[in-house]
Amino acid sequence: MGLLEEISKRKTFGIVSHPDAGKTTLTEKLLLFGGAIQVAGAVKSNKIKKSATSDFMEIEKQRGISVATSVMGFEYKNLKINILDTPGHKDFAEDTFRTLTAVDSVIVVIDVAKGVEMQTEKLVKVCRMRQTPIIVFINKMDREGKDGFDLLDEIELKLGITVRPLTWPVGMGQRFQGVYNLYEKKLVLFKAHNKQDAGIEITDLQSEELDQQIGEEAATELREEVHMIEEVYHEFTTEDYLNGDISPVFFGSAVNNFGVKEMLDTFVEIAPNPLPRNAEEREVRPEEEKLTGFVFKIHANMDPRHRDRIAFLRIVSGTFNRNTNYLHIRQNKKMKFSNPTTFMASKKEVVDAAYPGDVVGLYDSGNFKIGDTLTEGENLHFKGIPSFSPEQFRYVNNTDPLKTKQLNKGLEQLMDEGVAQLFTKEMNGRKIVGTVGALQFEVIQYRLKHEYGASCDYEPTNLHKAAWITCDNDVAMKEFRQRRKKDLAVDKDGKLVFFAESAWVLKMAQEAHPDVVFHFTSEF
Ligand code: G4P
Repeated sequence: MGLLEEISKRKTFGIVSHPDAGKTTLTEKLLLFGGAIQVAGAVKSNKIKKSATSDFMEIEKQRGISVATSVMGFEYKNLKINILDTPGHKDFAEDTFRTLTAVDSVIVVIDVAKGVEMQTEKLVKVCRMRQTPIIVFINKMDREGKDGFDLLDEIELKLGITVRPLTWPVGMGQRFQGVYNLYEKKLVLFKAHNKQDAGIEITDLQSEELDQQIGEEAATELREEVHMIEEVYHEFTTEDYLNGDISPVFFGSAVNNFGVKEMLDTFVEIAPNPLPRNAEEREVRPEEEKLTGFVFKIHANMDPRHRDRIAFLRIVSGTFNRNTNYLHIRQNKKMKFSNPTTFMASKKEVVDAAYPGDVVGLYDSGNFKIGDTLTEGENLHFKGIPSFSPEQFRYVNNTDPLKTKQLNKGLEQLMDEGVAQLFTKEMNGRKIVGTVGALQFEVIQYRLKHEYGASCDYEPTNLHKAAWITCDNDVAMKEFRQRRKKDLAVDKDGKLVFFAESAWVLKMAQEAHPDVVFHFTSEF
């Protein structure tokens, strides 16, 4: 098979949701459709159980499990579909943000009773920044929840996306009878879902067949609602969806495997094949013959006796071949990989060749960091793997001066993995760790001890926010640096960062220095 054909067979996406909305359940049903797994319950939940939030070892263990489920591939209708797992836990939001740079589209799962929740809001914002095409799945229709139209309004308002239902529910909770497929004009009944029923064709909603199938009351309601949908919502076009301008919405119940097939069948039809990616130098298209790819995730081996890590490489163009030399751009070093792995459901397999849209796991002894590019020789740097401004900050103190080297190495490697961000104060050289969630502090301390033999403790800071700083006006920059000296630090790449103690201080600094630009992601 040629490269073009391989590309046209692939669709790589992520599922985005707030914890508990049904991401794991939906993933499992999709894998079942693809025959990648045989039985329900085979996908280990990658979510961090609520009860475990104070027990981070448990969390780490679960993260260990998540390596296997980081990428799940399955075949469906002669396509190769890759699902990239996105942790829902807020303390691992950065992992998820980065994974979203490696997908070409997303499915957003929303719990019909809870509506749009915080984590979903944050993640969709990141998708919207990149115009990632979004499909919405409203889950748990077998339970009482919000009114369909109210929910769509809420989605549009909170997620800032324009929606268009492609299926519409008949009742919900106890009264849930199924969905009407607005495009295929088919009624799919809930009670028949186990029989692989393809649905009853009802082209004319006025027909009596509808009353016979779902009862007069529900039929009248459905007619009114469908009329309203046609009046209120824009026509759906694949082009608008691909541009990120409109999101189709499906209703169903993942745990009952209901409404999932309708969505999957639409997904395979409309979701994009591997898309081009921007490097600093130029746009790279998947059909280019030469291999390019970027590392979006690094996962440490949980076993301290085996220090190696897995770097996840998203292939952007060309063919990735085993035992072939590639250029690691940042280190300007040729590397080849004898055991690259792909992931089919929970199985890892050594792979000989992989194509755009695929993710390969590369065993790594510390060469990679997040954002690294591999090519066949061209000097390229893929963009779009930003660090986000952290929300929690602590000073790190070395508590074992004999192990200073180990501490520094450990910190550096953990930062390369993207566990947290390290800043160094300009005034006094003190190190500050910044994270998205509080859990990472414990994770860092534990891993430094067990993997590097180094000890540290933390000291609280009164910092509220970090912003990366740029300024075109040299005079203004000089003045800023002088006046704000005590609030400045550099990140691991030497970029200048301003620390504000409160939202008010930040605002005042922005007002006092209008020529200085404050950035809240590292990519600008
Ligand atoms: P997550 O990965 O997004 O965190 O969610 P997950 O799939 O684990 O689902 C969270 C809970 O919601 C699970 O129940 C799951 O069974 C349930 N669920 C998923 N889809 C549906 C649905 O369509 N209807 C209903 N009623 N429930 C659904 P749990 O009790 O937390 O776990 P479990 O013991 O059932 O596994």
